[in-house]
Amino acid sequence: MLKRTAMRYEKHVFVCLNERPPENPTGCCKAKGSEEILNRMKEEIKKRGLNKKIRINKAGCLDQCAKGVSMVVYPEGVWYGRVTKEDVGEIVESHLVGNRPVSRLRTDQ
Ligand code: FES
Repeated sequence: MLKRTAMRYEKHVFVCLNERPPENPTGCCKAKGSEEILNRMKEEIKKRGLNKKIRINKAGCLDQCAKGVSMVVYPEGVWYGRVTKEDVGEIVESHLVGNRPVSRLRTDQ
């Protein structure tokens, strides 16, 4: 049985903040602006008063490096790739608020 605290949030968003040295050919999401994306997303959630329902978390490498910035939303298990800071508002409004995932950014289909 799940503890009450484990059921506290309706959604979790995990944003990859992994960082690799610039010379590493794999690249990383942090170099593509993932920290700003995470911070914007947190601000948008807070602005809407949803920070008790939706949790935005830092994640390590999600093993989708070539498609970074990568993130995944649970419990749906929707994966997004090549996310930019300009996409944050749409993901928040359409998916996190409206429960309509943003098809053009999905990498799990
Ligand atoms: S560095 Fe972000 S998915 Fe690997």
